[in-house]
Amino acid sequence: MANVNENYQKLPGSYLFSEIARRTAAYAEAHPDAQLIKMGIGDVTRPLVPAVVAAMHAAVDDLARAETFHGYGPEQGYDFLREAIAKHDFAARGVDIAVDEIFVSDGAKSDCGNIGDIFDINNKIAVCDPVYPVYVDTNAMAGRAGDYDEAVQGWTNIYYMPTTAENSFSPALPEVPVDIIYLCSPNNPTGTVLNYEQLKAWVDYANENGSVIMFDAAYERFIVEEGVPHSIFEVEGAKTCAIEFRSFSKTAGFTGARCGYTVVPKQLVRNGQSLNAMWNRRQCTKFNGASYVIQRGAAAVYTEEGARQVEETLDYYRENARVIKQGLEAAGFTVFGAVNSPYVWCKTPDGVGSWEFFDRLLVDCNVVTTPGAGFGPSGEGYVRLTAFGDAEATKEAMARIGRMMA
Ligand code: MLT
Repeated sequence: MANVNENYQKLPGSYLFSEIARRTAAYAEAHPDAQLIKMGIGDVTRPLVPAVVAAMHAAVDDLARAETFHGYGPEQGYDFLREAIAKHDFAARGVDIAVDEIFVSDGAKSDCGNIGDIFDINNKIAVCDPVYPVYVDTNAMAGRAGDYDEAVQGWTNIYYMPTTAENSFSPALPEVPVDIIYLCSPNNPTGTVLNYEQLKAWVDYANENGSVIMFDAAYERFIVEEGVPHSIFEVEGAKTCAIEFRSFSKTAGFTGARCGYTVVPKQLVRNGQSLNAMWNRRQCTKFNGASYVIQRGAAAVYTEEGARQVEETLDYYRENARVIKQGLEAAGFTVFGAVNSPYVWCKTPDGVGSWEFFDRLLVDCNVVTTPGAGFGPSGEGYVRLTAFGDAEATKEAMARIGRMMA
């Protein structure tokens, strides 16, 4: 008899964003006239920019001709994309990342989950709380999280680091030894960022303790303030202790197209093993590379025209974030994030629970958000709103919320 992975039985309910989709669909079915405005999952709404679309069309034409046809590509990604990444995302910011330290994939979410393959089952995991649920759920599936404790809404073997307004969204170094540390800046869900000194403290901790930092920089392109690192590798010492995840999803509208990449420095060694070599082995065995068409599209993001067009789209979302922050503050809410991020982290009024306030916004305003409690125990009492929607709909959502609070 085949036995199943019992760790799946321990997972509470469904994946957060599936649960929100389910509740939203149920509400829409019961209220067919409701004009719902979706500010829940961070899914983009602006189309791919023309330079990307043209590159994808040309790539399809390549596949249509025997002379330019591409079959299996390199598992690590095509050099035309890896070279553009090394040049524009790193060298342009003074960071030396070699092409063979970059692994192109179908997105940061897969890589954040798959990276666990190269780590021992007994590693102690530390996550910020609130946290992007993928880090926690994938470790729980692998058996690294212990058991789910309903009473504290958390896993017994995961070290939760409160990352809240009380500590200015900068988690304290752990009081017990931890092996793998997930950091995300700009942060999902709080929309806040870590500065150089804060990241340096983590890099020093990881190097001293032999830990590895999983640095999720999926929202890096939203950073507008000076002095905020865009990559963990801008921090001295990070190459011996960190892996970084990047995504074209929020940068260039690839949530549907799917493309991201992971940087595993060659200097990163644990138990005498090169993690770069291990990740390469893992990818070569389990992954056949992101599609040629999509990688051509991603490379167009780095052309002069593509970069300018992408920046216009980012500005559109940045303006939405500003509208949300301003609208919520005018309605009397305390909000965080929004400045270097597409996420706005909003305190619920009068200590109302996250899910209760989610329901209230859904029913009274027909606005879909994400309940903070879904991101971990310290997210209770907050909801997250995203700036990835239509500009007019975003304004309308703020008007509705303003009326509800008046
Ligand atoms: C989010 O809403 O947190 C993200 O869209 C989820 C993701 O990127 O997988």
